Amino acid sequence: MPNAINLDLLIDNVNLATMDPSAEGAYGAIEAAWLAVADGRIHSLGTGPAPQAKVVVDGRGGWLTPGLIDCHTHLIWGGNRAREFEARLEGKSYRQIAEAGGGINSTVAATRRASDAELLTDARARLQSLAAEGVSTLEIKSGYGLNLEQELRLLKLAATLEQESGLTISKTLLAAHALPPEFAGRSDDYIDLVCEQIIPQAAAAGLADCVDVFCEGVGFNLAQCRRVFSAAQANGLPVKGHVEQLSDLKGARLVAEFKGWSADHIEYLQAEDVAALAGTVAVLLPGAFYALQETQRPPIDALRQHSISMAVASDLNPGTSPFASLRLAMNQACVLFGLTPAEALAGVTRAAAQALGLNQSKGQLSAGFDADLVLWSIDHPSELSYGLNLVRPESMWIGGRPF
Ligand code: NIG
Ligand code: FE
Repeated sequence: MPNAINLDLLIDNVNLATMDPSAEGAYGAIEAAWLAVADGRIHSLGTGPAPQAKVVVDGRGGWLTPGLIDCHTHLIWGGNRAREFEARLEGKSYRQIAEAGGGINSTVAATRRASDAELLTDARARLQSLAAEGVSTLEIKSGYGLNLEQELRLLKLAATLEQESGLTISKTLLAAHALPPEFAGRSDDYIDLVCEQIIPQAAAAGLADCVDVFCEGVGFNLAQCRRVFSAAQANGLPVKGHVEQLSDLKGARLVAEFKGWSADHIEYLQAEDVAALAGTVAVLLPGAFYALQETQRPPIDALRQHSISMAVASDLNPGTSPFASLRLAMNQACVLFGLTPAEALAGVTRAAAQALGLNQSKGQLSAGFDADLVLWSIDHPSELSYGLNLVRPESMWIGGRPF
């Protein structure tokens, strides 16, 4: 039994959805259990007599999960795209709108115009919506700046949000998101800028944890994405990609070739390309699938057959997934993609941590992991995917501290 004096927190009388892959059952569930925290980490957990601690919380028979992780968001942007939503409902496609200068570039214009204070005010509200539903870690991408100064600005704002919120934020450089208007007709020149200036400077300033691309007809081609990934690698940064969202350019294979953290969207990924993803997380983004009224589903059965980790994320962005809710994405992953609620919960905990390179410290209730914990007053963890705004966290701790 641990030395009681060293335990900061004990949560007793609780069921644990450990999400530990080595534990038995879909949720790695341990019922009628306790969990103890010391120095911001999970110290121990089990059933039977609980150790003493400085603070004891009665879980009242609810469920404790790891803090939820939203591993794909574009949380910082200016303006909105409601008019584009109207245009899509009138029959224009995402691609047509993008090709006519709308889409991502309309958000780029609004973002460049906005002050830091304006961007932060809107971003804080979105972040609070996520945190209020149990998110303790999230990713934020740049990608609405598309020049050196503006891309670095967005990464710095993400760091500001991390400092002031206490949440863990993984910062992703997505300079290769769209071709900015000043480079029209010169996409290779823009990729030069990304590779020779934006990536090296973001890396040197320690502003980015990872480098992302939009590998797509309306984004960048495979050869351009390869150059971006090579530059990331040369600057010591891991990669991930928006791939196979609207068409099959074999971007997922490229991500896998660079041992990337994740291949995201993948509706158009062919089943025969799935095996190549071994070691890379498949990030499912059902919000964008839903909002774009996409009908091609990601190859879920093939991902299962090849034991590829499946994460689920909100893709929170103004164009294709204007939903500040990871819980909605969990529900959509079940209803639209056929995930089980256990897969959806793994998708926002264990698999999402892996997608952010945090699988040694987050996403599981296991000794030694960060004490990012959410207590829910629910009868079964399937309730977390089943409904929306029916249950909210009773309590959340980040690094063992009440949030
Ligand atoms: O994840 N696919 C590219 N990026 C976003 C869309 C961004 C936007 O339309 O503003 C996505 O769907
Ligand atoms: Fe995205």
